[in-house]
Amino acid sequence: MNDSEDIVRLESVEKTFRDFWLRPTVKAVDGLSLSVRKGEVFGLLGPNGSGKSTTIKMILGLLSPSAGDVRLFGLPPRAIEARRKLGYLPELSYLHPFLTAKETLRYYAGLCGLKSAEAKERTTQLLEMVGLADVAGRPVGGFSKGMARRVSLASALVGRPELLVLDEPTSGLDPVSTKEVKTLVKALAANGMTVLTTSHLLADAEDICDRVMILDHGKSVAEGRVSELGTSLEDFFLAKVGDASEFRLAPFLG
Ligand SMILES: Nc1ncnc2c1ncn2[C@@H]1O[C@H](COP(=O)(O)OP(=O)(O)O)[C@@H](O)[C@H]1O
Ligand SMILES: [Mg+2]
Repeated sequence: MNDSEDIVRLESVEKTFRDFWLRPTVKAVDGLSLSVRKGEVFGLLGPNGSGKSTTIKMILGLLSPSAGDVRLFGLPPRAIEARRKLGYLPELSYLHPFLTAKETLRYYAGLCGLKSAEAKERTTQLLEMVGLADVAGRPVGGFSKGMARRVSLASALVGRPELLVLDEPTSGLDPVSTKEVKTLVKALAANGMTVLTTSHLLADAEDICDRVMILDHGKSVAEGRVSELGTSLEDFFLAKVGDASEFRLAPFLG
């Protein structure tokens, strides 16, 4: 495997959170190594609290690892050249309720440094793509959760990223919205986008990921190519981790 193909690379990464007196409290990520290759959809899976968001935040340069090395496009995650190629959908949407969908995207286009004409064109294109062209002039505060998530997804795409990072893209969505978001991610992947996504739902990951890693207590407990599992992700998970109760399977399948 060619290292230069790695869009994201983690080597023996640890993250220990400390309290006010700098006493270690939680080891959220514990010796994690992984790589995300160009053009694949990589799923970081695991129950709540297993360290998925912490891992994502280190990849984005929002948190520094306590030990180990993180590379984004071969660079430290805080390098501006690396960040420029990144689109991020946070676990919770931070949308301004009084801005319309169009204004929201124009705002992000401005942040990405797009000129007015290009911003306008890109906004129209993206709203069309996420199926919100008809409601482009409505304030996002009145949108359903599914619509809001699609606005956020469109915002993450404004800067034409090479890597799209999605933290729980389907959490809190009803089945119809979930399907819409998954269809969008699949369409992006089919067009060559590299995607790193997290989920605590195996079924969601099974539909969209090429490769998955399962985390528990900040450690990788299983890793595999979805097409080679020869079984459902749920069976794979059970076979790998054995005693389900010990690995707190309930929140995973819930
Ligand atoms: N800023 C923080 N300070 C202290 N502990 C944290 C912080 N962020 C996350 N944690 C803890 O780290 C562990 C992993 O959390 P997280 O990465 O959010 O898990 P996940 O995204 O898989 O649900 C949890 O035990 C969580 O409580
Ligand atoms: Mg999380």
